[in-house]
Amino acid sequence: MPSRTFVSDANIKKSLPPPKVIGPTTTKATRPTNKIPQDIIDGAKVVKKEEFDPERHLQFQPPTYIYTMKEFGFEGQGISPVAASEPFPLFTPEAIKQIRAEIFSEPVLRDCQYSSSFAKNMIRGMGRARAPFTHDAWSSPEVAAMVSSVAGIDLTHMFDYEIANINISINDQTTVISSDGKVQSKDSTSAFAWHYDSFPFVCVTMVSDCSEMIGGETAIRTPSGEVRKIRGPAMVRDHSLHLAGPHVKPTLIHEQGTAVVMQGRYLEHKALKSIGGRERISMVTPFRPKSPLIRDESILTGSRAISNWSELYHGYTDYRLEVLEERLREKRKSERIREDTKRPFDCESMRRFLEDQIAYLETTYSEIYPVEDMDED
Ligand SMILES: [Fe+2]
Repeated sequence: MPSRTFVSDANIKKSLPPPKVIGPTTTKATRPTNKIPQDIIDGAKVVKKEEFDPERHLQFQPPTYIYTMKEFGFEGQGISPVAASEPFPLFTPEAIKQIRAEIFSEPVLRDCQYSSSFAKNMIRGMGRARAPFTHDAWSSPEVAAMVSSVAGIDLTHMFDYEIANINISINDQTTVISSDGKVQSKDSTSAFAWHYDSFPFVCVTMVSDCSEMIGGETAIRTPSGEVRKIRGPAMVRDHSLHLAGPHVKPTLIHEQGTAVVMQGRYLEHKALKSIGGRERISMVTPFRPKSPLIRDESILTGSRAISNWSELYHGYTDYRLEVLEERLREKRKSERIREDTKRPFDCESMRRFLEDQIAYLETTYSEIYPVEDMDED
């Protein structure tokens, strides 16, 4: 599947500094205190574990609409002109079954549960050994090509440890209908505060059946302060009803396996509450530019306190050093070609390149500092 890179190395250098990311107030990895209900764990079991097969497990269709950075007032910012997408089908129900079985498997529940001031129940860093299907799906060239085609730039998954961040919200509280007929709920677990992401792009996929759910939009704050709402990953227009005729108002259905793509590092956003439904489980997988020559402002603010820090730091430094390796190799190659062709040395260009690499190394250095180990019980 072709995907396009809109950004040249030249125009990204003039961009604004990246938005500041505020992390959770949690300072070290913490396990959740509230347990996932046993019936949800039991219900996720599968009879036969399958290997990820792009032919059988993907059902990608391009989104019906893609919002641009320009539309939200952020023209020229970020690494792609794409801000966010409408929900689109990505995984088949069979794939979601396999993913759910891994999320709620014994080794994952034992090793990968985290809680923070942002979200009560998360599962992160499942790794290939514990979650081969999920890992192979997100690191496959097929999924990368699909996400890239929506994002308007060639992307690759951030690094293995970030496959994936799973937000789990269990709503055991009864939904209340107030006297004015409005639906109310005391459950606030599915809402997040305004924030920027730590990684350039995310693909958010719904792994719950949300047929009884209302809400769950993503709000985006524009530079003028206006708040725009876009549909969340579970909210898909029911095209079959639309096709029934103009007199039938199209409604929203909530489906498993649908996804949205968003340039969250450069958009101030928050997930709005959803009401109804027993559970809301979404899987957030971050992506970065595939080309090492494109600006990369990924940081660890959002991940540090909700990770096995050793595995997180390994993943981050490994990909950063690889990017640097590639950049140095490319620069050396172009410099040798310059010399062969007897053009004069470009002092300014070399200084700018070196400055960029110093800044890249400085960011990497400042992201790596000791973190306390979690209290294991
Ligand atoms: Fe976010």
